[in-house]
Amino acid sequence: MVTVNGQFPGPRVTAREGDRVVVNVTNYVSNNITIHWHGIRQLQSGWADGPAYVTQCPIQTGQSYVYNFTIVGQRGTLWWHAHASWLRSTVYGPIIILPKRNVPYPFIKPYKEVPIIFGEWFNADTEAIVTQSLQTGGGPNVSEAYTINGLPGPLYNCSTKDTFRLKVKPGKTYLLRLINAALNDELFFSIANHTFTVVDADAVYVKPFNTKTILITPGQTSNVLLKTKLHYPRAKFLMSARPYVTGSGTFDNSTTAGILEYESSSTVVSTTSVKNLKLYKPVLPVLNDTSFATNFAKKFRSLASAQFPANVPLTVDKRFFFTVGLGTNPCPKNQICQGPSNTTKFTASINNVSFVLPSTALLQAHFSGKSKGVYSTNFPKSPLIPFNYTGTPPNNTNVSNGTQLVVLPFNTTVELVLQDTSILGAESHPLHLHGYNFFVLGRDFGNYDPNKDPAKFNLVDPVERNTIGVPAGGWVAIRFLADNPGVWFMHCHLEVHTTWGLKMAWVVSDGKLPNQKLPPPPSDLPKC
Ligand code: C2O
Repeated sequence: MVTVNGQFPGPRVTAREGDRVVVNVTNYVSNNITIHWHGIRQLQSGWADGPAYVTQCPIQTGQSYVYNFTIVGQRGTLWWHAHASWLRSTVYGPIIILPKRNVPYPFIKPYKEVPIIFGEWFNADTEAIVTQSLQTGGGPNVSEAYTINGLPGPLYNCSTKDTFRLKVKPGKTYLLRLINAALNDELFFSIANHTFTVVDADAVYVKPFNTKTILITPGQTSNVLLKTKLHYPRAKFLMSARPYVTGSGTFDNSTTAGILEYESSSTVVSTTSVKNLKLYKPVLPVLNDTSFATNFAKKFRSLASAQFPANVPLTVDKRFFFTVGLGTNPCPKNQICQGPSNTTKFTASINNVSFVLPSTALLQAHFSGKSKGVYSTNFPKSPLIPFNYTGTPPNNTNVSNGTQLVVLPFNTTVELVLQDTSILGAESHPLHLHGYNFFVLGRDFGNYDPNKDPAKFNLVDPVERNTIGVPAGGWVAIRFLADNPGVWFMHCHLEVHTTWGLKMAWVVSDGKLPNQKLPPPPSDLPKC
């Protein structure tokens, strides 16, 4: 497996809001690689964002690149991961951003902070799996296990010794920093007999709310408080995570688990008595519990306080309506495809365009003014053939391939509605935007209605995040201010859908002032 500094999950990056972070990445493996700092705004540091062929050419074997960026106006949990092919399956780790010195959290000071990263384990070279998924367009590949901090846990065969154990003291508050690094599945997470208080999403504070179960999509992060029981319980508590499944097809329905164990401070509990403690198991929602998913998403609201205001853009310069979903491509000659019929392979698209990465980096082409032959700027503003997205799909489900971008003048306010198409089955798509946070104004099932739905938008305290699930058979409306010059990737964070083309990019032009321009690239920027 490919790892960073020999560690799995990879090393923790801890910084404070306002810090400059400098990471030297040297590639010692035979794969091309890049690292993305998921959720970091990268204000005027687009060269450090990381997606391969978008902001940089990959770092080739034996080469190095220094990622250099400043964390501006963010505090909470984010994460870093490889952003080339499917290498992020093992190359990932937490980014912990502490508030500025002497600035307290807007909630009780935790006794301890613990990162909890969910992952997905394949008993195979993930590069071989991605090749198969791309060439034949096969269904999502089923992994062998989910993991908590790299460990599958006792519910899998022979894995009891590979179990994450969280040792806690009674009557204390712990801050769990949750990260979903799994490749292809949204996950439910609970700890038996315990309740979480959610205080943050994607490194933005939210109005606290209590819940027994968390739902977290790939790409999302969330900080939750866990208050332990006041008295030492004669028990251990299982924590477990398993997928929330909206699509059809084959999925890994298994469960990863860890153990919450109380350490008693006064009475010495011997190892044998720990072994004999009763084990409580949590009850997770059923695999396709969309009503849980819907209600859970509704609970997220920005803090919107004087200290942490929600700066929702109240006017809109540009409106876009994008469909996201699956589709097909003709099966190439002399190949056996696993698409919906044997003459087609699965693909995925935004506005019917399956995005093709170029062989050089989009940002370099943009910066040097040499976009010709690399990308065009005619990405459709809305789907070419509108249809009833929740009804019968069109007869022809083939999509076009292209490298089309949208150009946004500096400081444009954008409203974007993302609509699931239900082609080849309704499915939830966790859409992730690089370089920005956005406000989630509305989210519902069915076809978006531009005449009725905006009246229901939340412009007061909408949650601000970088990844949002477009509900299966529904839509989500977001707004952001394009105040960060560069080229910014947007894609489904289900890796198989990214591979199939559910991705696109925005070009945000420079502003007039010197502090509104993208600086020139660093001298060690990799070449393709
Ligand atoms: Cu976490 Cu483009 O990714």
